[in-house]
Amino acid sequence: DWRMDSFVETTIQQLKEKIGNGKALCALSGGVDSSVAAVLMSKAIGKQLTCVFVDHGLLRKDEGDQVEAVFGPDGPYDLNFIRVNVQERFYEKLKGVTEPEQKRKIIGEEFIRVFEEEAKKIGAVDFLVQGTIYPDVIESGLGKSAVIKSHHNVGGLPDYVDFKEIVEPLRLLFKDEVRKAGRELGIPDYLVNRQPFPGPGLGIRIIGEVTAEKVKIVQEADAIYREEVAAAGVDKNLGQYFAALTNMRSVGVMGDFRTYDYAIALRAVMTSDFMTAESAQLPWEVLHKVTNRIVNEVKGVNRVMYDCTSKPPATIEFE
Ligand code: XMP
Repeated sequence: DWRMDSFVETTIQQLKEKIGNGKALCALSGGVDSSVAAVLMSKAIGKQLTCVFVDHGLLRKDEGDQVEAVFGPDGPYDLNFIRVNVQERFYEKLKGVTEPEQKRKIIGEEFIRVFEEEAKKIGAVDFLVQGTIYPDVIESGLGKSAVIKSHHNVGGLPDYVDFKEIVEPLRLLFKDEVRKAGRELGIPDYLVNRQPFPGPGLGIRIIGEVTAEKVKIVQEADAIYREEVAAAGVDKNLGQYFAALTNMRSVGVMGDFRTYDYAIALRAVMTSDFMTAESAQLPWEVLHKVTNRIVNEVKGVNRVMYDCTSKPPATIEFE
């Protein structure tokens, strides 16, 4: 794609000139926008860039390691990468909390605190890198500068990081163009083609209290679901699909034993703008296979249900 070729080359050149010998800091979520912004920056200024990746323990299965494989020291890019492992810290904060808005607030605020602590260790930087894309610019109102985009818009970044200027290398691109640029830059498909994933992560896909045990359950179930849907090739028209852990336990039977375990809810939606969405009609064979695998392979689950609700009245996420 000649247009993306030239976007990538021109942008790297422009960033080089703009940043000069300066230092830059990027909050990396592993989402496509922040990943592409980080790689463009690293191609332009190498080690003058530091990326901070906060692993809050609410990511999908193996996601933290996948992000590290790409951006860490064994990956193809030349940048400073800091993975902050704060899983336990988040679980501690979320202990006993069941109210959805409260959970979001805690996760968002704690994310900011962690990022702030890391930024302080790095010291003053010249540039803060944001993966703002064109639709974000529009949303925040033309003519105004884009609202600073924090980790997937949780909370909101900050007066706390000591920097002089914001750089937004993607601010003229639409999502599909960001993905093209990502491929051009050699970012693996599993990052480039990622579905949208909310900032509060699995925290809002576990109804009720979040615990390490429940995170593990929903991660395993979700990984099986995504694997089977992709293998069956039925993911093409889906805007988003994932497993959630309901807070319901029910009676089942396993061999000679009675079980009393959780129910997993599967969701798959078709949507163009995420404001409205329609529940997708996944083939029964696929749902059946996913169900069998989940109840057999995921400890603590004895029932699987499919969410047929549209948005509205339901939201896409469960909280
Ligand atoms: P709902 O659940 O409101 O979700 O139908 C609409 C879209 O937004 C995503 N979502 C979030 N994204 N931070 C985000 O960055 C959040 O707190 C958040 N909550 C929901 C959701 O995944 C869907 O794509």
